[in-house]
Amino acid sequence: MEKEVAKHRVEQLHALINKYNYEYHTLDDPSVPDSEYDKLMKELIAIEEKFPELKTPDSPSQRVGGAVLDAFQKVQHKTPMLSLGNAFNEEDLRDFDRRVRQAVGDVDYNVELKIDGLAVSLRYENGVFVRGATRGDGTTGEDISENLKTIRNIPLKMNRDLSIEVRGEAFMPKRSFEQLNKVRIEREEEPFANPRNAAAGSLRQLDPKIAAKRNLDIFVYSIAELDEMGVETQNEGLDFLDELGFKTNHERKKCSTIEEVIVFIEELKTKRADLSYEIDGIVIKVNSLHQQEELGFTAKSPRWAIAYKFPAEEVVTTLLDIELSVGRTGAVTPTAILEPVKVAGTTVQRASLHNEDLIKEKDIRLFDKVVIKKAGDIIPEVVNVLIDQRNGEEKEFNMPEECPECGSKLVRIEEEVALRCINPECPAQIREGLIHFVSRQAMNIEGLGERVIAQLFRESLVHTVADLYKLSKDQLINLERMGEKSSDNLLQSIEKSKENSLERLLFGLGIRFIGAKAAKTLAQHFETLDRLQQASKEEFIEVDEIGEKMADALVTYFQKEEMLNLLAELKQLGVNTEYKGPKKIKVEDSDSYFAGKTIVLTGKLNELSRNDAKAEIEALGGKVTGSVSKKTDLVIAGEAAGSKLAKASELNIEVWDEKRMISELKK
Ligand code: IVH
Repeated sequence: MEKEVAKHRVEQLHALINKYNYEYHTLDDPSVPDSEYDKLMKELIAIEEKFPELKTPDSPSQRVGGAVLDAFQKVQHKTPMLSLGNAFNEEDLRDFDRRVRQAVGDVDYNVELKIDGLAVSLRYENGVFVRGATRGDGTTGEDISENLKTIRNIPLKMNRDLSIEVRGEAFMPKRSFEQLNKVRIEREEEPFANPRNAAAGSLRQLDPKIAAKRNLDIFVYSIAELDEMGVETQNEGLDFLDELGFKTNHERKKCSTIEEVIVFIEELKTKRADLSYEIDGIVIKVNSLHQQEELGFTAKSPRWAIAYKFPAEEVVTTLLDIELSVGRTGAVTPTAILEPVKVAGTTVQRASLHNEDLIKEKDIRLFDKVVIKKAGDIIPEVVNVLIDQRNGEEKEFNMPEECPECGSKLVRIEEEVALRCINPECPAQIREGLIHFVSRQAMNIEGLGERVIAQLFRESLVHTVADLYKLSKDQLINLERMGEKSSDNLLQSIEKSKENSLERLLFGLGIRFIGAKAAKTLAQHFETLDRLQQASKEEFIEVDEIGEKMADALVTYFQKEEMLNLLAELKQLGVNTEYKGPKKIKVEDSDSYFAGKTIVLTGKLNELSRNDAKAEIEALGGKVTGSVSKKTDLVIAGEAAGSKLAKASELNIEVWDEKRMISELKK
């Protein structure tokens, strides 16, 4: 074949294949049988093999999945990809409506389905798809173009030669998800928890051939530059996207009152199960783009839209048992053991019942039928009991009077809901205390998990945290599942933990009410353990963010002779008891420009991480906060700074770039 003839035929094939593809995948209305489509695709691939220069990036043959990547490139979004505020009930919706009308008067809403997938941004140059990205942190995402190209509903060439960024939600249809999991289970691979995870997992594969097999789909819902397209409303914007050759969701409605919106939501609740894809709510958008602009954005989300989230899925199961566990503070917590049941994509068999009051309040009995949901879609919770399904075999549950671990009498401390074991020798408390001491936010001793601690404790090798520093290789090597190598590694990480800065030790001690943050503040303020031990209640209270309850707990702790002995022992064993982080300089002692100023860091910094920059500024007496307001003195804007930078110029606040910040830090 002559090259000229081939070129002409390739153009013809592009047009035909794109048309059939669009009819099949986007309109769901094919005009030719699959075999015809396959035949044309084969012909195209054959010509491209013969004349590789005719294989263009927008060729339909590119959908089958190209080369394997080493890593995804970072992509800066043209305008930030924000998220939406949430409404959980009608009242939240009416509040939203009130706020909107107060700001801009009468409005129409465009109401759309909230597709449960992952947000993507599609960049087109002169009508050709050039790049697709994940949302990432909203400003910077990852280039997943090769994977997105495998989604047949994403046109590789639009019907108009525009240069725009289209936003939408990529997802996996319910049926594809079920099939995929079926195959995975057959192959003894871990099934995906839900279609959203499956879609996200597929689009994060470095080999696009995997995504190509996963039957992903997309609904697009906006153009970043919609206002520049001569379009006046969100509704028209969606029609415009249809015209360009995209797939938008047609289950949408224009409503002129919030009551109409609420009716639509109710309809969708019933319809939801019949949809071929998952939705997790409804998005309500002010229809007029002009009014959208007037309403603007908060730091995180537009004021002109809100997401109504469907109530969490609820299921019924049987309560088989109530298990009790004693925590490091001695609190006894009941946990419901459930007949395994699937809720919102995962199997649930345990749910915390928190305390005795909750069990009494909900009248939860053993063998009851209970309603379960996942709070915030993550943590399983018992909602209520189906009392009219009782058959008389249910048993009332009473908390024991004695500690299930050590048998000493449990007490209920005034104003507390928890029952506590107050025996300082209670093995459960000691064991949990040790686990806390070695945990990541505390002494961070790698290789010392719950299992090893439980073993060391059982074998009476460790009783107090100081004993950890006395362990020998001979002792470790004899433990179950502990070889020569892992014993060496463990001893090494125990040794390394001696160098930790004071706040880790302080948090690890597990003093009541002293969390990681308070420990840091205290360590920074007092600098050595000696000074902490000698401080009075008043001195503690003087420290920023240390309240009366914390101060009392500290004083009580440092008064106990056994604690003082323990601390002396740790010191003697070589554990560091001094603060090593950046010093907090008193504003009046600092001659830095940053001293006493309120500073906001935004955008991407290159030389320093945001956290390091924050620490250095604070060390010089500056205060770093998260959002720009009238109280902000200075904004440091890295690359691609977004709304915070805009707000700074709106409020006439001084703005520096990273270079200037660094030279000031070095002064
Ligand atoms: S509009 C400025 N419309 O929900 C934000 N979002 O938190 C504009 N989503 O990650 C978002 N369906 O990807 C919009 N019809 C729809 C949507 C939708 C799903 C996702 C979106 C975002 C999240 C909002």
